[in-house]
Amino acid sequence: MEDKIKILNEKLELSKLGGGEVRISKQHKKGKLTARERIHFLCDAGTFEEIGALVTHRTKDFGMDKEIIYGDGVITGYGRIHGRLVYVFAQDFTVFGGSLSETHAEKIVKIMEMAMKVKAPIIGLNDSGGARIQEGVRSLGGYADIFYRNVVASGVIPQISAIMGPCAGGAVYSPAMTDFTLMVEDTSYMFVTGPNVVKTVTNEDVSSEELGGASTHSTKSGVTHFTAANDIICLDQIKQLLSYMPQSNESLPAHIPYEIGEEYRYELDTIIPALATQPYDIKDVIKGIVDEGSFMEVHKNYADNIVVGFSRIGGRSIGVVANQPMSLAGVLDVESSKKAARFVRFCDCFNIPLLVLVDVPGFLPGTDQEWNGIITNGAKLLYAFSEATVPRISVITRKAYGGAYDVMNSKHIGADMNFAWPTAEIAVMGAKGASEIIFRKEIGASDDPAKKLLEKEAEYAEKFANPYSASERGFIDEIILPNETRRKLIKAYAMLESKEVEMPYKKHGNIPL
Ligand code: HXC
Repeated sequence: MEDKIKILNEKLELSKLGGGEVRISKQHKKGKLTARERIHFLCDAGTFEEIGALVTHRTKDFGMDKEIIYGDGVITGYGRIHGRLVYVFAQDFTVFGGSLSETHAEKIVKIMEMAMKVKAPIIGLNDSGGARIQEGVRSLGGYADIFYRNVVASGVIPQISAIMGPCAGGAVYSPAMTDFTLMVEDTSYMFVTGPNVVKTVTNEDVSSEELGGASTHSTKSGVTHFTAANDIICLDQIKQLLSYMPQSNESLPAHIPYEIGEEYRYELDTIIPALATQPYDIKDVIKGIVDEGSFMEVHKNYADNIVVGFSRIGGRSIGVVANQPMSLAGVLDVESSKKAARFVRFCDCFNIPLLVLVDVPGFLPGTDQEWNGIITNGAKLLYAFSEATVPRISVITRKAYGGAYDVMNSKHIGADMNFAWPTAEIAVMGAKGASEIIFRKEIGASDDPAKKLLEKEAEYAEKFANPYSASERGFIDEIILPNETRRKLIKAYAMLESKEVEMPYKKHGNIPL
């Protein structure tokens, strides 16, 4: 028996070493932790249990039969984060560049299937050169096996992907199908084809960073939801992100016990500027309403005319969607519609109530927007809100104009509670534009058209640029003071706690993708 234990221990020791000490130190020199270190910092101390440590690849081609490394470039298993069960895989770049072989894929698939049976989140720490080139179609098949399970798991268990090194080819598509992607600055890249292929095909000279670095994907493409200065910060972000989510679509997010107090927040009374055209930072409103320090912004640097993120109010996890008057006056455009729609759908999948703060002058006009499909993309947000069955509350802080009024979680598309501040303006369009259209003849016939326009603008504004007309029809449930918003919301979310909505049976809807 002693001999057998010795052999086992030797094998396990070897498996822990991955690609070997020299390669590990190379990884450290690049400013990256090893796969094992990443798991160590991600999971609660002593909770990670490895599965399949002694798996090896089965390839004989290209001399691979002489290069057998236990674990085959990925560490898989389960552990706990803040006491909650999670499944984790971490690719080991020191072993064949973290590339995905048939067996590497099988290890990932095994824990994905376990996560689905047990209904617990899965976290992937990606650091991979893509399909293992020596394996040909077997590695492509391995990727497809993972993609398929990503889709089956979508909306059932939370799936989180951290990109912690170069990720090329197939290595980017699995993260793209998970719920959230995080990238480490300077050390991680995501691209379907790298700079060399780009140069050959399109003759463009582009660096890896420019093509697919964290900054590119957080600002230009929106592929990543978060960026982190280093591995440790990235792993901390995963832990925070997870804290807002339930284990699966069959459970609720953790509710931190909360005793309701006086809850008035008088600083909210002075945020809206006197002039309706003046911007203000909607994040000041969010922070004034939610539990202190609880707001975690998602997609911070992408489409910043809309703000989305997780937070808590009265200890309850919520998803916040808010127009941002500081950027493009908070208008809805292609990118902001897509960004918000995806976030709304995530929250709806995982029983996270929504809070929508509305200050929107409408959809952005112009050829650029029309040609890039503002119709289809704006419809995504309209669709996402309309199909969401989680508790949904809106607060109109200032403008709610035109189609954007309908889209931004209006009563008509199923919102549960619609509040407005006294500063709300709810109308088909702004006073100037509206007056120029409906009073055109009267203004044209006037001796002083400019003066007449101003008069008509004032008349229109008095009639429509307020929350009263909508309130009289019941489209707004209550006009509230900014300082009492938090208090009203805590009570309303508690009231909506057991909300249930029956939607007609369908295989799935046909969201305008
Ligand atoms: C096998 C690979 C590999 C791969 C890297 N390695 N990628 N081995 N298959 N896909 C190996 C290298 O040979 C090297 O081994 C070690 O990993 C480290 O790689 P380096 O190139 O030295 O590292 P670095 O300079 O940091 O560059 C990393 C990289 C680069 C950018 C990822 O290796 C690269 O471009 N790899 C190929 C990426 C790619 O084109 N993948 C697409 C595969 S097709 P040694 O022994 O020398 O240290 C695909 C299609 C799936 O994925 C489609 C599904 C939809």
